[in-house]
Amino acid sequence: MPRAARRAVTAAAEYAVPRAGLVVVRALDRDVVGQAHHPRGAAGRVTAWEMTWRPSNRQRSAWAVALLDVQPADRVLEIGFGPGLAVAQLVRAGAGHVYGADHSAVMVARASRRNAAAIRAGRVTLVRAPVGQLPAALDGPFDAILAVNALAFWPEPAQRLAELRGRLAPGGRIAVVSQPRAPGATAASSARAASDIGDLLQQAGFTGLRTETLPLSPPAVAVLAAGPGQGSRRLA
Ligand SMILES: C[S@@+](CC[C@H](N)C(=O)[O-])C[C@H]1O[C@@H](n2cnc3c(N)ncnc32)[C@H](O)[C@@H]1O
Repeated sequence: MPRAARRAVTAAAEYAVPRAGLVVVRALDRDVVGQAHHPRGAAGRVTAWEMTWRPSNRQRSAWAVALLDVQPADRVLEIGFGPGLAVAQLVRAGAGHVYGADHSAVMVARASRRNAAAIRAGRVTLVRAPVGQLPAALDGPFDAILAVNALAFWPEPAQRLAELRGRLAPGGRIAVVSQPRAPGATAASSARAASDIGDLLQQAGFTGLRTETLPLSPPAVAVLAAGPGQGSRRLA
């Protein structure tokens, strides 16, 4: 079966089969990690559709945005925005301006379509770029930075996080969210992910770490941390 068709069957089946069948269905799709890393072509468009409509993705994204506690004047940067759910939620939450970078052309197209009105209104700027080569338009400073199920794909993640820290305004904060998607992932996988993220954030110079958990299956974890300055105004 061609790859795109296999992914379409996989994604559609996720909505049709009960949870027990989900593990089997996803195991059929050996391409899932590659597409999550860099969605491309027809298979990438199916991945975008799946990321958009999977209920746990939508819940996780809304939760992550709520944790950031955005304020009306906040400039927020999301790295690895995928189909742009969180970008739209950040706009609805009242962020002053939402910036985003993703290295996938498919995802930039999807997210730009989803957020077309906000882009036209000058409230959203989305660019195609890898996290290690952000353009000057994303120099910041930002009040908040968000990455949801994205950090695990970055080369040299501690270095990337240190660069992002340099783009935060004094008192700025970051939220790095993970919900392990490997077949068989459990609450223990989520706890390990939170610990790994915390270590990377500390190596990158972030302080005041706080971990939150959303009870999905497996749980989503968010590690929030303060950037430069005297700790984030909004991490308490
Ligand atoms: C698993 S998806 C998550 C998408 C979205 N944050 C969500 O939760 O639905 C990971 C996203 O990160 C992007 N990505 C992965 N590595 C990247 C990198 N080095 N630079 C920029 N984007 C990257 C991928 O293109 C993809 O859109």
